[in-house]
Amino acid sequence: MGTGIAQVAATAGWEVVVADTNEGILEKSSASLVKVMNRLAEKGKYAQEEADKILGRINFTDDQQYFENSDLVIEAIVENLEIKKTVFAAVEKIVREDTLIASNTSSLSLASIGASLENPSRFVGIHFFNPAPLMPLVEIIPAVQTSEETTNQAKDWVDSWKKLTVLAKDTPGFIVNRVARPFYGESLRIYEEGIAEFATIDWAMKELGGFRMGPFELMDFIGNDINYTVTETVFQSFFYDPRYRPAFTQKRMSEAGYLGRKSGKGYYDYAEGAVKPEPVKDKEVGQQILDRVLALLINEAADALFFKIASREDIDLAMTKGVNYPKGLLKWADEIGLDWCVERLDKLYHEYHEDRYRCSPLLRRMLEKNQKFFG
Ligand SMILES: NC(=O)c1ccc[n+]([C@@H]2O[C@H](COP(=O)([O-])OP(=O)(O)OC[C@H]3O[C@@H](n4cnc5c(N)ncnc54)[C@H](O)[C@@H]3O)[C@@H](O)[C@H]2O)c1
Repeated sequence: MGTGIAQVAATAGWEVVVADTNEGILEKSSASLVKVMNRLAEKGKYAQEEADKILGRINFTDDQQYFENSDLVIEAIVENLEIKKTVFAAVEKIVREDTLIASNTSSLSLASIGASLENPSRFVGIHFFNPAPLMPLVEIIPAVQTSEETTNQAKDWVDSWKKLTVLAKDTPGFIVNRVARPFYGESLRIYEEGIAEFATIDWAMKELGGFRMGPFELMDFIGNDINYTVTETVFQSFFYDPRYRPAFTQKRMSEAGYLGRKSGKGYYDYAEGAVKPEPVKDKEVGQQILDRVLALLINEAADALFFKIASREDIDLAMTKGVNYPKGLLKWADEIGLDWCVERLDKLYHEYHEDRYRCSPLLRRMLEKNQKFFG
C-alpha cells in the first residue's frame, strides 16, 4: 500500500520518502514504481520525461530521520496495534511540531493508535483502497482526539491529489468495509443454505444486479484469508453483533489454503486449463439471490446513515467509488422503494428469527413518513 500511496503523492507533485525497515522491500518498491511509471509512459499517459520526474520525487530509506521536515507522514505498515504504536511514538519525536501524522489502517481504531502520540490532535486516518493509484476513493477518519484543523487539512491535501474523499466516523470498517459486508456474507449464506452454487450467485449479482464482479470472484481476487480476517475483525469489533458473523465456508477455505487467485484455487480453480463451472441461469432463482443480498446491503447503508457514520452523499459515493457498485445503495433504495426494502427484510426476519435480518429503524421511520434518501 505504501508504494501505491507514494505514487499518488509524487504524481501530484509532492516530494515523497518511502521508509521501511526491510531493505529488500524498499528495492522491490522502487523497482515496481519504475516498472509502473515506464508502462504509463509507454501507454502515453505521461511523457517519459514527466514519468522520470515523478520517479525522481520518490526517495527510499530505512532511516526514519528523513521525516524530520515532512508536512505529512502516512503510516502503512503491518496491521498490528503494538507495532504501529511503537513506530508512531518514534516518528513523533523526529517530525516537526506541525507535521500531520496519519494511518492507513483498515481495521484498527484510530483512537487507539492516536493514544500513542503526545499530541494526538494532529493525527487522523487516511484510508486508501488497493491499488491506491487506481482506486479514486479515500476515507478520511478523524479519531476522537483529532482536531478539526487536522481533518480539514488532510482532506484538502488528499483532494489535491485528485482523489475523492469521504468523511467517516472512527467505527469498525469505516464506510466501505462495513456497508459491503453482506455482499460477501449473505452470498456465502445463500450458498450454505444450498440455494445456489458459487457460479450461479456470481451470475445473478453481475447479470441481474449489474455488479462488476460476483461475490465469489471478488473474494477469490481479494484473497479468502484477507476477506475472512476483515469480516472477523468487524464482527469482533461490533461486540459480536450476529449481523456480521463470518461464514464457516470462508473460514474453511482460508484454513485449507484455498485463498483464491493467489494460491491458484479458491471458490474457483485457477489452474491452467481448468474449466469454470457454468451458472444455472434461472431468472427466478437469480432474482431471489439478488433481492436478498441487495436488501441486506441497503439495510447496512441505511444503518450507517442512522448511526451517523457518514453523510448520505458520502455513503453512496464510497460504495460506487471504493468498490465499484453500479449504484449508490441509498439511491438504489429510493428507486426500488423503501416499502420493498422493509418488506424484504421483515420477511427474512420472520422466517429466520435472526438478528442479521433486523430492519434499520431509519428505513422503517422513513417509510412511515413516506420519505426518500434523496429528494
Ligand atoms: N492491502 C490492502 O488492500 C490495504 C488496503 C487499505 C489499507 N491497508 C492497510 O495498509 C497497511 C499496510 O498494509 P499492506 O497490505 O501494504 O501490508 P504489507 O504487509 O504488504 O506491508 C507492510 C510493510 O510494513 C513494513 N514494516 C513492518 N514493520 C515496520 C516498521 N516497524 N517500520 C517500518 N516499516 C515496517 C514491512 O516491511 C512491509 O513492507 C495496513 O495497516 C493495512 O490495514 C491495506
